[in-house]
Amino acid sequence: MITTKFTETFGVEAPIVQGGMQWVGVAELVSAVANAGALGFITALTQPTPEDLVKEIERCREMTDKQFGVNLTILPAINPPPYAEYRDAIISSGIKIVETAGFNPVDHLPDFRAAGVKVLHKCTSVRHAVKAQSIGVDGISIDGFECAGHPGEDDIPGLILIPAAAAKIDIPMIASGGFGDGRGLVAALALGADGINMGTRFMATQEAQIHDNVKQALVAGDERSTNLIFRQLRNTARVAKNAISDNVVGILAEGGQFEDIRELVAGARGRNVYTTGELDAGIWSAGMVQGLIDDVPTVAELVSRIVGDAEALITERLAGSVR
Ligand SMILES: Cc1cc2nc3c(=O)[nH]c(=O)nc-3n(C[C@H](O)[C@H](O)[C@H](O)COP(=O)(O)O)c2cc1C
Repeated sequence: MITTKFTETFGVEAPIVQGGMQWVGVAELVSAVANAGALGFITALTQPTPEDLVKEIERCREMTDKQFGVNLTILPAINPPPYAEYRDAIISSGIKIVETAGFNPVDHLPDFRAAGVKVLHKCTSVRHAVKAQSIGVDGISIDGFECAGHPGEDDIPGLILIPAAAAKIDIPMIASGGFGDGRGLVAALALGADGINMGTRFMATQEAQIHDNVKQALVAGDERSTNLIFRQLRNTARVAKNAISDNVVGILAEGGQFEDIRELVAGARGRNVYTTGELDAGIWSAGMVQGLIDDVPTVAELVSRIVGDAEALITERLAGSVR
């Protein structure tokens, strides 16, 4: 067992988090993560309405009696989702941990705090982590350049970002981006974090409700199997390398605008990849950690393997090398 400030504050056994994942963070995966002693997050915006989110939370409760949370991703949009209604759905469902990401969560904090909900804010820079700490979040998830999804525009890998953030963060902080095994967990702890957050690695598990082709693509892929898209639009996203993401990179590199790629990057096309297993159907998120994924275990096997390997690494190899 590895106990840290994070496990104590957030009330979980293992210092491992399954971060929000659009289309992937649903009840089957989240309950499996909870049952394995780690912390899973249902992705609020995967549910079409706040009422659907309430039902998804209920569905998850039918599969676990352990604690789990909800991810609320706040992204700039012309027609934003009804964030306040999603927030109210989270609170009224009795959820006690929320992962916020994408934008400063300040507007949501008073209601969460009043309801006794702990907020774990995920961000990609030291300055944003410091800001989030100053406005009163309960924990930080610091997401390095390796990560799937939105790594920000600073391109700072975890090896620098994690200790740089740890130097300024006093509340529990977990490291995110590129983690997939016990070595990563030990490295994160050594760099000053209190645990790890994983996305891509949890996609390649039995309980992830995505087509097996996607899981096998993650096993077959290596650390070079991603593309950074939207760079020129200052909204960079790390996604799986495929025909569509190659095309998007090419169009934007030649001066194309969002209008030129809008149809290619449509969310519905990306969702099709997960349901049909057609890997070139659209854009789908995946990180560099593909280079460390060799199998599709159950979530319980994965979590106990990571914790067991980390314990062995600390108590045997590392301890044994100190003279
Ligand atoms: C398929 C997928 C979808 C994701 N969707 C979201 C999302 O909606 N909101 C969010 O905050 N993070 C999202 N992420 C990011 C993850 O929560 C996590 O921060 C990231 O995957 C960590 O990097 P890793 O993939 O190297 O573990 C997504 C990641 C993946 C792989």
